[in-house]
Amino acid sequence: LPAGPARRRIALTHTHPSSALPPDAAHVDAVVIGAGAAGLFCAAQASARGATVLLIDHASAVAEKVRISGGGRANFTNQWLDVRAPHKHFVGDNPAFCRSALSRFTPQDFIALVDAHGIAHHEKHKGQLFCDHSAQDLIDMLLALCGRGPGQVSRWQPCRVTAVQALNASRTETSSSTSIPPSSSSSERETADTGIHPARYRVTTERGSVLATSVVVATGGLSIPKIGASDFGLRLAQQFGLRVLPTRPGLVPLTFDAQDWAPFVPLAGVALPVRISTVPAPASDAAPATNPAASAQAGTRPGKAGQDGKGAAAKRAGPVSFDEDLLFTHRGLSGPAVLQISSYWQPGTPLTLNLLPEVDLADELLRAKASSRKRVANELARWLPARLADAWCARDPVWQRAIDQVPDKALQQLAASLQRWQLTPSGTEGYRKAEVTLGGVDTRELSQQTLEAKSRPGLFFIGEVVDITGWLGGYNFQWAWASAHACAQAL
Ligand code: FDA
Repeated sequence: LPAGPARRRIALTHTHPSSALPPDAAHVDAVVIGAGAAGLFCAAQASARGATVLLIDHASAVAEKVRISGGGRANFTNQWLDVRAPHKHFVGDNPAFCRSALSRFTPQDFIALVDAHGIAHHEKHKGQLFCDHSAQDLIDMLLALCGRGPGQVSRWQPCRVTAVQALNASRTETSSSTSIPPSSSSSERETADTGIHPARYRVTTERGSVLATSVVVATGGLSIPKIGASDFGLRLAQQFGLRVLPTRPGLVPLTFDAQDWAPFVPLAGVALPVRISTVPAPASDAAPATNPAASAQAGTRPGKAGQDGKGAAAKRAGPVSFDEDLLFTHRGLSGPAVLQISSYWQPGTPLTLNLLPEVDLADELLRAKASSRKRVANELARWLPARLADAWCARDPVWQRAIDQVPDKALQQLAASLQRWQLTPSGTEGYRKAEVTLGGVDTRELSQQTLEAKSRPGLFFIGEVVDITGWLGGYNFQWAWASAHACAQAL
């Protein structure tokens, strides 16, 4: 691949994504690493602006997480996102960082694209939009956008990136990569020295190397490694001296000590609407750089308390709570309520559950006592799933009687136990089951307008690899689209 000012010569070629770079494109405008939601959308948007893009992914299929998301129908955005204060739906050490990108590329912008491609969709719950047919429709749209030009998107897949090296714009070349030697090729120097199309990076892969004006890292989070998740982006950030906040699984089921949980095991499968809350940890200062691989392996445990990259949650005043459905599992709790709260939960701290958020239960039970001789569990079953009512009353012999035989105080205690149930999870189901990764590249290192590293011109981080994590309900994809869009405007 001979070097050359790629944009000038091929900016107006219009081809579909292919594995082959144009013969003169040893130098592209941007190498995008990671062909997931953010990477594909960024490549498409950059190409729409006339850029030549090489998209590289180590997996053989694109956008595997889009494909499996939303039960195969991709909850691709949330139209309840408050564009004036989008950060309230996001967790991170500095959630306000996401405001700029999210207010410049809104859910309505993405919905307009989806509509223009004839993808039917529907709202399921609380502003969550899903494809009517299949998430594959969305992937097809992203690929079609990549092929639309006027720039060009080439794709190398599966392809492993072995090094990313910064080239000094001056004659003396330096490398930020220890894995490959500094370049001495005269054509690279020429490109770097002309100033017309400065090659700022050399990306080396198992298919060869390419010069790029910009490198966009869109390698996502750590969850579900078997479909391609890796800590590559976090390691690359550290290679270039950027701070990475410790990572941990988010939007993840919570687990309990097996002995403590034994009484609830028979309830596996029971679901009900609840209010769930937790008090996030006290505010923490910016966490130091960490070894992402090490914290990735830790799985259900974050780094030191107060340094888990969740200062965002920490900086919120008071408890965080969600009204959503809860699901009992064999090992603990899941369902939307638990997934949401898991992104704020700090290990070792309790959760509070109100299993009947819409009822003044003590009042109702005392009223029932005046006119009923039914067992307490049967009365409770007016509001709760019968299996749960039975299991709950089995916890205390006094609750197993007919309701008119139960002292008022015991009924009040029963109500309190159901409406202020405090329990401390022992951990999470880890990256195997997590939808997202909390923590990541520290937003203080990045421009909020473009997602470019402040200390590394031409190096961008977008999507989930950044320390911005959305609530359940389409917010994470909206961050992927919006951060990709913001970055593409700068390529
Ligand atoms: P994404 O993970 O999409 O893409 C990263 C890409 O980088 C992958 O293609 C990967 O192969 C590649 N890559 C990784 N390491 C690499 C390396 N070393 N070299 C080259 N390539 C590399 N969100 C939402 O809003 N609505 C939803 O319905 C769901 N549902 C959902 C279900 C499940 C089961 C999961 C696990 C997650 C979700 N999510 C979700 C979250 C959502 O999928 C996620 O936040 C986005 O896909 C993030 O987009 P990114 O492009 O940043 O990463």
